[in-house]
Amino acid sequence: MASPVPEVSSVVAEARQLYEQTFGGRPQVVVCAPGRVNLIGEHTDYNDGFVLPMALPLVTVVVGSQTPGQDVTVITAAKDVDESRSVTFHLPDDGAPLSPGQPSWANYVKGVVHHYRAQPVPGFRAVIASTVPLGGGLSSSASLEVAVYTFLQQLHPDDGDKVAKAVACQQAEHTHAGVPCGIMDQFVSVLGREAHALLIDCRSLEATPVPLSDPALVILITNSNVKHSLTGSEYPTRRRQCEEAASALGKASLRDATMKDLEDARNRLDNVTYCRARHVIEEIERTVQAAKALKRGSYEEFGKLMVESHHSLRDLYEVSCKELDELVSAAMEVEGVFGSRMTGGGFGGCTVTLLQAHAIDKTILRIQERYSGTPTFYVTTPSEGARVLNLS
Ligand code: GLA
Repeated sequence: MASPVPEVSSVVAEARQLYEQTFGGRPQVVVCAPGRVNLIGEHTDYNDGFVLPMALPLVTVVVGSQTPGQDVTVITAAKDVDESRSVTFHLPDDGAPLSPGQPSWANYVKGVVHHYRAQPVPGFRAVIASTVPLGGGLSSSASLEVAVYTFLQQLHPDDGDKVAKAVACQQAEHTHAGVPCGIMDQFVSVLGREAHALLIDCRSLEATPVPLSDPALVILITNSNVKHSLTGSEYPTRRRQCEEAASALGKASLRDATMKDLEDARNRLDNVTYCRARHVIEEIERTVQAAKALKRGSYEEFGKLMVESHHSLRDLYEVSCKELDELVSAAMEVEGVFGSRMTGGGFGGCTVTLLQAHAIDKTILRIQERYSGTPTFYVTTPSEGARVLNLS
């Protein structure tokens, strides 16, 4: 059966207990920021295209307090880290960058401190706890970045610009985690809306909420529980191939290219470049169509676009893997399933499936029967972006 999504209050209680045990006294501030699942629009964000993610009820929590001086101490409650669970560093007073290092989870904290938009950041101590599976393709890292940023806003407020906040968190990922990600994950973790998916234009950074709260519909996330080592190296390669394709077509980005542009240039492009560009150009169009279909309640059409997206990611963009393909095929065998696809960067992680509520048990069972690995399931609803919580 599906894992129940843990209550935010229970993870707050866990973080708070660890804080009180470690530092003594009550924390001043509690915040949380969600992970995300992307419904459609994969590998389009760094091509200035459209994406359609939603924020999850799975969150990263930060509890903590400001301290005098310029020392920062952070502890993670995560049980499955094989590095030190505690880090202390000194805030440089000359604006010098905080260098990334060990433990690696602390680089997200350092990156956000460095890119925070109202310097200087004061000293603080904090505990981090999360219900977003680490490295599972549901943006555990973006949720950590956005939670840390939201925490800093309570200690030393910036101007409150939410889009600039998402961009600062994306910068943290680039400079301190070394991942040249697009804007999708941080954007939806900041601006997610309860009961809505967000159609994000990654060029203008404008978002249109699309209602998604039909009780007859279920959004099922299936974690393959595999992560292939290709994830790290293949992402920057894909990004570079897209830039090369855009420049071969004489465009600023693939957002500006049409399929006609691509077909006209076909004999000037090698086959791999052609396939990468074709995925992106068609996926941007599919995402716009999918948002319209969702608005109309045309779930059949939405599901069809999801499956097309998966096939394109598998065959043209080559970021799927055997496990994700198995999960999608198994889900699609069940009556009442509208569509299913891999979600996130690829090479492992999760699939997202849209189905009729009555088909949920059958779908989970079928996936369990067919999948060669051990899946984890989450039945989710679109949730609110980052927020400050009350200390009871
Ligand atoms: C990762 C990145 C995102 C996006 C997706 C693919 O999740 O962080 O910016 O590029 O991959 O759609």
